[in-house]
Amino acid sequence: MRYLVFGKNGQVAQELQRRCGAAVLEVRGSDQANFENPEACAAFVAQTEADAVINAAAYTTVDKAESDEARATLINATTPGAIAVAAAARGLPLVHISTDYVFDGAGTIPFASDHPTGPLGAYGRSKLAGEAAVRAAGCTHVILRTSWVVSAHGNNFVKTMLRLGAERARLTIVADQIGGPTCAADIADACLSIAAQLQADPSKTGSYHFSGGPDVSWANFAREIFAQSGLSCEVADISSDAYPTPAKRPPNSRMDNDRTEAVFGIARPDWRVGLRNILTDLSA
Ligand SMILES: NC(=O)c1ccc[n+]([C@@H]2O[C@H](COP(=O)([O-])OP(=O)(O)OC[C@H]3O[C@@H](n4cnc5c(N)ncnc54)[C@H](OP(=O)(O)O)[C@@H]3O)[C@@H](O)[C@H]2O)c1
Repeated sequence: MRYLVFGKNGQVAQELQRRCGAAVLEVRGSDQANFENPEACAAFVAQTEADAVINAAAYTTVDKAESDEARATLINATTPGAIAVAAAARGLPLVHISTDYVFDGAGTIPFASDHPTGPLGAYGRSKLAGEAAVRAAGCTHVILRTSWVVSAHGNNFVKTMLRLGAERARLTIVADQIGGPTCAADIADACLSIAAQLQADPSKTGSYHFSGGPDVSWANFAREIFAQSGLSCEVADISSDAYPTPAKRPPNSRMDNDRTEAVFGIARPDWRVGLRNILTDLSA
């Protein structure tokens, strides 16, 4: 089985490449497949010899999207839609990664994959438009919503905490947003398995959730990062109001992964185990 992957330097894209060599992955980064050019990206699908497509590319700067929504929508919706149309024409299954930000973050119950959406900001709206475009294309697909992605690559909460925790004795961290940190390594494994299963059984097409467990606040996530890394930085809880950002964050990012486990046999990963692996990677 061969996979066409959009994304090269991103967290999930890096983990896909770590698992599979060039014989298995056809990787298209932004240097070749610029998502500001939908036709050029779709052309890679039209020409590929791969058996399935994984879209790990996205406009992910949540705060910047508030003042740059047209570009976020082009990258997160228009181009994924064009890729999905090309995948439909070729009969190729598509795994498209999406986000908890498509929900309104209300309540405390984990969102099921068929729960009504209601994004709070521009990034979430652009990702939700991407989901709609993929569905409308009529290809065999999985929309895989994930949350709080972390890895040894790029910029993410784990790397920020390790940097700040080494510099400061005390940090104030938001404690009223709860979600599932998800290791990019686990997402990569899930994408590969789902793409292969979709190819074998297109009836698995649909929207699914994949987030790490147990659900945790950012503050408690930071405490576990410091505990595992041996940093003595103290964490003080603050509310989201005390840490204003251009884009409003969902207070409830809990996602119900049951359907993913039932249909694809992929269990919810324990992020504390994934965190250990990330710290090992970073120290290597
Ligand atoms: N990060 C999170 O906390 C989070 C949470 C929920 C959902 N997600 C979703 O998970 C998926 C993977 O996220 P990630 O954290 O791995 O992303 P990331 O590390 O921010 O990487 C973004 C990827 O998108 C590509 N990209 C950005 N602009 C592009 C453009 N104009 N043309 C082509 N490619 C472009 C980058 O290209 P290059 O490879 O060329 O650098 C890179 O591979 C995305 O769909 C994201 O929305 C992420």
